[in-house]
Amino acid sequence: MPQTKIHVIHENTNWVEPLRAAFTEIGAPFAEWFISDGILDLSTIPPDGIYYNRMSASSHTRNHRYAAEFTGGLLAWLEAHGRRIVNNGRALQLEISKIAQYTALSDFAIRTPHTIAAVGPDDILAAARLMNGPFITKHNRAGKGLGVRLFQSVDALREHLETPEFEPSVDGITLIQEYIQSPEPFITRVEFVGGKFLYAVRVDTSQGFELCPADVCQVGDAFCPAGAPATAPEFRILKGFSHPLIERYQRFLAANGIGIAGIEFIVDREGEIYTYDVNTNTNYNPAAEAEAGI
Ligand SMILES: Nc1ncnc2c1ncn2[C@@H]1O[C@H](COP(=O)(O)OP(=O)(O)O)[C@@H](O)[C@H]1O
Ligand SMILES: [Mg+2]
Repeated sequence: MPQTKIHVIHENTNWVEPLRAAFTEIGAPFAEWFISDGILDLSTIPPDGIYYNRMSASSHTRNHRYAAEFTGGLLAWLEAHGRRIVNNGRALQLEISKIAQYTALSDFAIRTPHTIAAVGPDDILAAARLMNGPFITKHNRAGKGLGVRLFQSVDALREHLETPEFEPSVDGITLIQEYIQSPEPFITRVEFVGGKFLYAVRVDTSQGFELCPADVCQVGDAFCPAGAPATAPEFRILKGFSHPLIERYQRFLAANGIGIAGIEFIVDREGEIYTYDVNTNTNYNPAAEAEAGI
């Protein structure tokens, strides 16, 4: 019997390299669907097989401005034909909107930082005035720390909005979010494959909270598949990590068509856990995995 083909939907060839190697090693036939421009004839029938959607929220930063939108259409077409998809159209909706992520997380009683979404400078300032204490800005559609900046006051934000350094989110929606100050400079990323917990990894943020791991290794979205360069933050897989939150994350993932994901949380001084990012397009850190023997 011929083996089922795996179709990988993506827009960044670098990130597919580890998959190519792994599929080749296990002898799994696969095809790459590089999505940027393209055509989709709705009268055609999609090839048989399993689809793995790896479209990224930050695709627009690699000159693929409409890749995510186009993928949304493609997934609707695949779903209409009953194709099995790992990280389906709903997963993509979450990938490209932190508002969608946070509202879906709250369905499972998963705490997120207080967040106000705003469009346009006046409303961004109005949102900031509703915050008590330090807050950060971030893009609703982000993926590599886009627009993440810490402010101590509304005035500081006003000044920033007037400079060319202010860059609105590609979807026009800026989030104003309470700043969670962790006593130690790290965040935790929890990895899931097949909707099940794989491991948790601690990521050092001492080089600046606004740097996501990807910014340092310049590949975007997640961990550098080529291994961390010398200046990259440290990733350390936490041996035997267990927490009641994992079960809630798993139910959240199952309810939202997500099979493969990395979910990030931060812990404040009181030990309260805040979940703030869901990455349905995840890369792994080979150095940390080698060290943990995973
Ligand atoms: N509310 C917050 N309080 C403190 N630090 C935060 C907060 N939100 C994000 N960060 C920091 O900024 C980084 C990028 O933010 P994140 O929401 O993960 O955006 P992206 O989707 O672009 O990765 C995080 O990894 C974390 O270090
Ligand atoms: Mg993140």
